[in-house]
Amino acid sequence: MLEIENINVRYGPIHALKNISISVGESEIVTVVGSNGAGKSSLLRAIAGTVKPSKGNIFFKEKKINSLSAPSRVKSGLTLVPEGRQIFVSMTVEENLLLGAHSQNRSQVKNLVESIFDRFSNLASRRYQLASVLSGGEQQMLAIGRAMVAKPKLMMLDEPSLGLSPILVGQLFELIKELHSEGISILIVEQNTKLALKTAHRGYVLELGSVRLEGTVSQLAADKILAEAYLGESV
Ligand SMILES: Nc1ncnc2c1ncn2[C@@H]1O[C@H](COP(=O)(O)OP(=O)(O)O)[C@@H](O)[C@H]1O
Ligand SMILES: [Mg+2]
Repeated sequence: MLEIENINVRYGPIHALKNISISVGESEIVTVVGSNGAGKSSLLRAIAGTVKPSKGNIFFKEKKINSLSAPSRVKSGLTLVPEGRQIFVSMTVEENLLLGAHSQNRSQVKNLVESIFDRFSNLASRRYQLASVLSGGEQQMLAIGRAMVAKPKLMMLDEPSLGLSPILVGQLFELIKELHSEGISILIVEQNTKLALKTAHRGYVLELGSVRLEGTVSQLAADKILAEAYLGESV
């Protein structure tokens, strides 16, 4: 479904991604883990089209999408729930969802937004309130809801668990599994390596802009380097 071939991203003198190749298959949950600064967000931004790679190709549903704008990528079924949620706190909960649906047919927008309110009662009861009144967990729900109204085939999530309590993190990962069971492929970036490996099928470990390791989650979990560096276990 998604194929990334030798992507390079540079910010001036900083070479943030060096020949990264990854893939996400139909109905797969794939995780990318790695420390702060490894290049995880840059990778998702390159796929979403908000950062332009200096080299490399991106294929989505067998089509090369290198030159597609970010909104056209959303329209084709590729959405990103960005790091730090990025919801608009001076707009209402409903307005935030309407923004996510702007690429959809007008006739469908109302139903799409209602389907989010049916699913998340906490959001429904705050529909006309500013998004700033939401708790951290509810803001993450809203960010995911905003991505869902764009009817994604592949949803990318950038560190969705950041700043959430353990209970909310558990609920969040249940939601991610639900979305997957409804037919959405998932690419999830996490610093919470343990949880990511529990939820995903396959994964990649990024280090300083390169893929250090890749494999099924059981292969990764059994890897000594990964265990020492990311799971806090001395092997
Ligand atoms: N907008 C930017 N301008 C300059 N450097 C950036 C920018 N965004 C990220 N970087 C740098 O690129 C590298 C990778 O960052 P990032 O993709 O945010 O990593 P991660 O998400 O894994 O923490 C880091 O060295 C970071 O400082
Ligand atoms: Mg990041």
